[in-house]
Amino acid sequence: MYLADLPELPRRLAAADPGWSETTDVLVVGSGVAGLTAALHLREQGLHVTVVTKVNIDDGSTRWAQGGIAAVLDPLDTPAAHANDTEIAGVGLCDPEAVRVLVEEGPARVRELIRLGAAFDRNADGSLMLTREGGHRADRIVHAGGDATGAEVQRALHEAVHRDPWIRLVEHALVLDLLRGADGRACGLTLHVLGEGSEDGVGAILARAVVLATGGMGQIYSSTTNPSVSTGDGVALALRAGAEVTDVEFVQFHPTSFVSAGVTSVQRPLISEALRGEGAHLVDESGTRFMVGQHELAELAPRDVVAKGIHRVLLRTGADHVYLDARHLGGSFLEQRFPTIMASTRAAGVDPATELIPVAPAAHYASGGVRTDLHGRTTIPGLYACGEVACTGVHGANRLASNSLLEGLVFAKRIADDIARELPPQDEPAPGSLLGAKSGWVVDPDVRAELQRAMTRGAGVLRSAASLEDTAGELTRLGARRDTPRNATWEATNLLTVATVLVAAARTRRETRGCHWREDHPVAEDEWRGHLVHALDHQARLSQTFEEMA
Ligand code: SIN
Repeated sequence: MYLADLPELPRRLAAADPGWSETTDVLVVGSGVAGLTAALHLREQGLHVTVVTKVNIDDGSTRWAQGGIAAVLDPLDTPAAHANDTEIAGVGLCDPEAVRVLVEEGPARVRELIRLGAAFDRNADGSLMLTREGGHRADRIVHAGGDATGAEVQRALHEAVHRDPWIRLVEHALVLDLLRGADGRACGLTLHVLGEGSEDGVGAILARAVVLATGGMGQIYSSTTNPSVSTGDGVALALRAGAEVTDVEFVQFHPTSFVSAGVTSVQRPLISEALRGEGAHLVDESGTRFMVGQHELAELAPRDVVAKGIHRVLLRTGADHVYLDARHLGGSFLEQRFPTIMASTRAAGVDPATELIPVAPAAHYASGGVRTDLHGRTTIPGLYACGEVACTGVHGANRLASNSLLEGLVFAKRIADDIARELPPQDEPAPGSLLGAKSGWVVDPDVRAELQRAMTRGAGVLRSAASLEDTAGELTRLGARRDTPRNATWEATNLLTVATVLVAAARTRRETRGCHWREDHPVAEDEWRGHLVHALDHQARLSQTFEEMA
């Protein structure tokens, strides 16, 4: 069915023909764990790879990851147990086959990362130090530098990519639209590069396959753990190209982002779940551990349960935070195990060794995204997606802690293998293939903060028919504010696009499941055990279909 009462969405962003072009075998968009892992595996297959990234190579979400990577590395743990925990967190919407691939192939991918040079924390006997996070019933999280896992993973991958002269890196490159050949296959992208010489302005990179690894969309909300580059560019681009996206309503809110008058940016410092894994407690203003009695795992319940528990306290007290109490863990342990958290909280005047840490939920992870199969193929031939931009089916309605870096590693490798199996010759973009009826217009960048506020108010942790209707109206009003094409307007258009699809899905899903919480439909309903799939047609009409789980 086609949806009404929503903002108009464009079918293309580029307003003119590309001013320059070049070719590569495989074009990878994004330079976090998924993009760089894909690039390295593609090189093992002997292919030339170009990686384009919006700002600098290390500016994506990966380097901010604290907790770690979940993988079965303890002989007493099993892939079946990891799969079970993943599926419980996903509340009936995980694809069991995708989960099986994730948990069975994950350990080998972590060992490869170690061989590449990633230094994970180890016990005195040299074995990997494993910890636990919410929703896990075993210690299976590897971590690095205490709570700096993402930074170490990013460093190792970045250095490996720089060692390979056949991986070309293009920074400061915002992707615009997918190019497709006469047979509809992806054959490159248009992009805007802030570069020097011939490669500057809007150009095209032609490729035999395109891999989207652009990360998430946390910047549609007023507070998120995601960096400012997380504007949903990959999902918006895939939609404009006609690909299917799914499960977009399931945005995970991390229960504990740091709240401080000193932190004014949209991106808030993360207070890793691993701190609760090591024994920190959530308390309300009277010092009561409010998660005890709400779930058998208390503070270590899956994230949606903890985020809801906190939100209920905030609704009751009217405060903007609850507290995390880590004082009993001791200053020297905290400094050694959580150096990143200690540095960011102390910089804002809070010492977790002696004080309670003010925390509140913040948008953290898009469990849905561009729909893929088990090889990372999207519904457009030649277009692949992996990492947060993708919906492989492993997360269902709520991602299990520390499964995200793992998913990037596992599916990036599968994509490289698939591309190497069947890579056609370079195709030419079909003449006029990009021209849609509704194309080439972009949104005023000044709407960004208003859009974030509207999404936070009406489509955030807590949603209802009325709040979502208000948000849809607000998005329609904001989408009518247009401006001239440039990076800020293209990004604002991407934000509007992904916010619109999220609101459309959240309105339709009249139940509460995982990280989709409808106060007017407070329980999970069997009839909603399935996926909402969205796509834009050639006239830029947004369609929505519901696919029941098998
Ligand atoms: C955390 O450290 O709490 C975040 C880990 C994750 O998002 O999986």
